[in-house]
Amino acid sequence: MMDFELASDIKRRWDPRHISPPGRPDPFLVERVCDLRAGSVLDIACGTGRNALYLAGLEYDVTGVDISPAGLTQLKAAASARGLTVKTIEADLRQSRPWGQYNNGIIFNYLPPLSLLESLHEYVIPGGTLILCTFTTKNGERFNPSYCIEERAFAQGLPLFRLMHHSENMLDGRFRDGYVFRRT
Ligand SMILES: C[S@@+](CC[C@H](N)C(=O)[O-])C[C@H]1O[C@@H](n2cnc3c(N)ncnc32)[C@H](O)[C@@H]1O
Repeated sequence: MMDFELASDIKRRWDPRHISPPGRPDPFLVERVCDLRAGSVLDIACGTGRNALYLAGLEYDVTGVDISPAGLTQLKAAASARGLTVKTIEADLRQSRPWGQYNNGIIFNYLPPLSLLESLHEYVIPGGTLILCTFTTKNGERFNPSYCIEERAFAQGLPLFRLMHHSENMLDGRFRDGYVFRRT
């Protein structure tokens, strides 16, 4: 992803990909949901909200943030159809903003910009959980390397987060690293 890309261009790229209702929750989230604290969750780069909806269905108080209005529209429509409440924030994640503090954060299939990686602790309360799972450079050129993290990139934790669990997993034939962190 190019840092100089205009927000309007990112929306133009993602909106057409968010025309279908959300699918099933991510298997790594389903596997590790037991690590979440009760209460609130910020779903960072939520897309159409498959994970946000799953957690709302488990009675978490979920807020999804994404740059794509089309994704957030799908999320709100699906939540309403299921009788669930999910809050949404339309924002460019390259610009840190006061999105609030949550008991948990989740990030799936999105490589946060460095500025966000370094400030994730602002959005999760001490003792809270952060689950991050995304594609790795092990995929080589089969998958745009600028969307990928180095293998085990966060094995030493993140600023103010201690690593609780790490495992490699596959999604649609692509390698991913999944992490669970506890906020210190
Ligand atoms: C591959 S999708 C992942 C969606 C969701 N996390 C999931 O796993 O289903 C990546 C998401 O990142 C969002 N995104 C990309 N760049 C962004 C930015 N600068 N700010 C906010 N969201 C962004 C896109 O709109 C898209 O919804």
